[in-house]
Amino acid sequence: MIFREDAFSGKVVLITGGGTGIGKAIATEFSKCGADVIIASRKIENLSKTAEEIESKTGRKISFYQVNVRQEDSVKALFDSISKDKGRLDILVNNAGANFLSQSEELTLRGWNAIIETILTGTFLCSKYACHIMRENRDGGVIINIGATTGIFGSPFALPSATGKAGLEGLTKTLAAEWGRYKIRVNLVAPGVVWTEGFVKNVGVTEDLREKIRRDTPGGILAEPEDIAWAVLFLASPAARAINGVTLIVDGGHYFAKGFSL
Ligand SMILES: NC(=O)c1ccc[n+]([C@@H]2O[C@H](COP(=O)([O-])OP(=O)(O)OC[C@H]3O[C@@H](n4cnc5c(N)ncnc54)[C@H](OP(=O)(O)O)[C@@H]3O)[C@@H](O)[C@H]2O)c1
Repeated sequence: MIFREDAFSGKVVLITGGGTGIGKAIATEFSKCGADVIIASRKIENLSKTAEEIESKTGRKISFYQVNVRQEDSVKALFDSISKDKGRLDILVNNAGANFLSQSEELTLRGWNAIIETILTGTFLCSKYACHIMRENRDGGVIINIGATTGIFGSPFALPSATGKAGLEGLTKTLAAEWGRYKIRVNLVAPGVVWTEGFVKNVGVTEDLREKIRRDTPGGILAEPEDIAWAVLFLASPAARAINGVTLIVDGGHYFAKGFSL
């Protein structure tokens, strides 16, 4: 255990895209530390399987709801359900995301919109409705957005994703400043490459590339989903009470050592 077993007891935590990959690791680590965890995304079958898996590991109930973060009605319905069922929300992790590779000059508007709406509009909508609940808390709340190093350094052939993740930097800093009056802290965690099924499917990369990235990363540490989760738990904890509006890069120092281009 990295954090105490009761580090988040009494806290209600929502993780969008919590049924798979990095989101699933974040949900698992919060549940291990006593949080009341909610996961939400479009595919209910993934959510229910993951909820069962985490419950069997931690012995704590995981709630799950269907949501499409691109649609305001769907997001509003999710937060209405959370208000009704839990009565509060302490931590939101905006983890839902999507990506695909394309030459930018051939990219369709439909493809552009799908990714921008998932990353940027989805994070805006979930943050807005989370704020409506969190601002009623006496001790405020925490929002953590999952960005990417591609949003800082760019990423050839992944224009909408790199642009959306870059947009999250402005969104994070703006909300951090604006929602201080509600005691809501807002930070961004920016992973480099993390070998999840979603990453392999969306980007279509090979084991050879994985080994190359590992070799090029100082210390040879290629971040696992749990490494991203631990950064999120730290930022959500009182140990980070004075940290607001920052971007925490979690890539083992890979970009600074070698740069990255698919
Ligand atoms: N893996 C990496 O190398 C890497 C690097 C940097 C940043 N990231 C970021 O980390 C996050 C998680 O990525 P991952 O690698 O774990 O991939 P993943 O398993 O594909 O996770 C993406 C999640 O987002 C959910 N999602 C997608 N569109 C949605 C929508 N419209 N509404 C609600 N949920 C939606 C998906 O669930 P449903 O299909 O059920 O909706 C899925 O659970 C993403 O934001 C990604 O950009 C990943």
